[in-house]
Amino acid sequence: MGKIPGVKRFSVSVPIELFHEFDELIRKIDQDRSKAIQQAMRLYISEYAWKEGALEGGGAIVIVYDHEGSEELTDIQHDFRDVINSSLHMHLDEHNCLEILAIRGNIEKIKGLIDKIKTCSKVKQIRYAVLELNV
Ligand code: NI
Repeated sequence: MGKIPGVKRFSVSVPIELFHEFDELIRKIDQDRSKAIQQAMRLYISEYAWKEGALEGGGAIVIVYDHEGSEELTDIQHDFRDVINSSLHMHLDEHNCLEILAIRGNIEKIKGLIDKIKTCSKVKQIRYAVLELNV
């Protein structure tokens, strides 16, 4: 295949099981492999490319956790109240809760908050989207 202007072709090595799992999923949702990799790369960039030197950030953190004995998560939120603007709580089922935190403030503090939440034993899933703000 010839070169397409503005498009970079590259090859990567991945474990065979990961490749099959990925390929099977994109076939099920009817997406092509290149589009799926592009989406994954953008997601990766948004998660990790908080530029050095950025001072302010804003966005959202989504947490799924077991509410039984989850005081630690509440304590963390009290400790980081200066970057948590508001939160939304939803009782998913008997045991699981969903919490969405709207965050804004010092980017190092936000990173600290995310790291703390990740270490919480009751937290089952955490997702976040943070933008650098030029203020
Ligand atoms: Ni709840």
